[in-house]
Amino acid sequence: MTADAIETSGVGVRYGDVVALEDVSLRIPFGTVTALVGMNGSGKSTLFKALTGMVRPAGGRVLLDGTPPSEARRRRLIGYVPQSEAVDWAFPVSVRDVVMMGRYGHLGFTRRPRREDREIVDRALERVELSDLADRQIGRLSGGQRKRVFVARGIAQDARILLLDEPFAGVDKKSEAMIIRLLRESAAEGRTVLVSSHDLHALPGLADAAVLLLRKVLFHGSVADALRPEQLARAFGLDILGREGS
Ligand SMILES: Nc1ncnc2c1ncn2[C@@H]1O[C@H](COP(=O)(O)OP(=O)(O)O)[C@@H](O)[C@H]1O
Ligand SMILES: [Mg+2]
Repeated sequence: MTADAIETSGVGVRYGDVVALEDVSLRIPFGTVTALVGMNGSGKSTLFKALTGMVRPAGGRVLLDGTPPSEARRRRLIGYVPQSEAVDWAFPVSVRDVVMMGRYGHLGFTRRPRREDREIVDRALERVELSDLADRQIGRLSGGQRKRVFVARGIAQDARILLLDEPFAGVDKKSEAMIIRLLRESAAEGRTVLVSSHDLHALPGLADAAVLLLRKVLFHGSVADALRPEQLARAFGLDILGREGS
């Protein structure tokens, strides 16, 4: 039996008194795009951090392709696109430097890029249409271009599991369409994509399945079912059914 791309069972995460995640159990196969949907503070970023091993669950278990996060990181399985707020955009690195970081695990102990690494990085930059900006400092990019740099890093890394935290927030339509296309292509190549998003309109063209999160998993199933008003009302705590006062 082959392992799922992502498997969590009973994962709970706390920050002091705050329970950010509770009893999160998910199984996500390879070759799919899954949208992670939930309001601010629902635990989306925390789930990504639990998957990458950046936060340690208080309970439960995380497996990526059957191995724990530390081993998955060592095997370069995970490509992670952090939420923009988590990145120091003043850091003096170029677009090309960031994408080359995707190759570090593949470099020998001298950590000197070989011709092959440079070619892979050049191709990744072409795919996100940033070749012209390769030498620019990462802070001097638009929101959409910044996201595309990190997507290119995941492509250069050849990661089998791509985790993207709000890649469409503050992003122009062209970048959004490009990122969606690259994620769909990645899934078609057998990778797995977990992507958090507020943009419900984009979900049908983006994802095969959706997870609605509100500290717990409220729903995991088809995008069409996730978008039903009664499901969204639970996830966002809105009374979009207009039943207040009844
Ligand atoms: N480093 C932290 N310290 C304390 N509380 C945190 C920290 N990070 C997140 N939280 C809290 O955990 C909950 C989930 O946050 P987060 O995972 O960032 O949600 P989302 O990404 O869905 O907005 C929120 O209540 C948030 O305030
Ligand atoms: Mg977040």
